[in-house]
Amino acid sequence: MILVLIGYMGSGKSSIGKKLAKKLNYDLIDLDDFIEEKEKATVKEIFENKGEIYFRKKEQAYLQELLSADKNIILSLGGGTPCFGDNMEQILKANNTLSIYLKASIPKLAKKLIKKKATRPLIAHIETEEALTEFIGKHLFERIPYYSKATHHVITDDKSKKEITKDVLKLL
Ligand code: S3P
Repeated sequence: MILVLIGYMGSGKSSIGKKLAKKLNYDLIDLDDFIEEKEKATVKEIFENKGEIYFRKKEQAYLQELLSADKNIILSLGGGTPCFGDNMEQILKANNTLSIYLKASIPKLAKKLIKKKATRPLIAHIETEEALTEFIGKHLFERIPYYSKATHHVITDDKSKKEITKDVLKLL
C-alpha cells in the first residue's frame, strides 16, 4: 500500500511521514529528497540552475515511478506536486494508494515557514511574516482545489505530531 501525504509547504508532511513510517514499518520516501538524490542537486539548485519547469517535469516523472512501486511506502510529496500536470489524477487512480491532505491554517503555516524559507525557492525572497501570510493566502487559494481531492483530510492546527499521526492511523 502507498500512503501519499499531501499539503502545503510546512504542513508537516515530512515529519508526520517519519512517524507513520516508524509506526507502520513502511519505507518512507520524501519526493523532494528522492529528486535531489536522482538529480544530484538540491531543490534550490535545480530551481536556480534549470528552472521550475524542469523541476516540475522531473517531479512528475519520479512521482509516476514511485506510484507504481510494489511495496509498502509512505510517500511524502512536495507542496506543489498535486497541483501540476495530471499528478493528482494519477495519485487518485493509482492502485492500493490512499492520499491524505494535512490541512494547516494560513497563520500557522506562515509562522513555521518564516523560519524555514531559505531552502524553499518559492518563498525564500519573502522578508516578513506579514508578507508571507499574504503570499500563502493567495497561493493556497489556487492549490486547495487540488489538495481537496485527497481521499482524507486531517486538520493539523493545535495538534501535536503524535496526535496528527494518530488521526492519520485511524483512517487506515
Ligand atoms: C514546493 C514545495 C517544496 C519543494 C519545492 C516546491 C511547492 O516541498 O517541492 O520547493 O511548490 O510548494 P515542501 O512542501 O516539502 O517544502
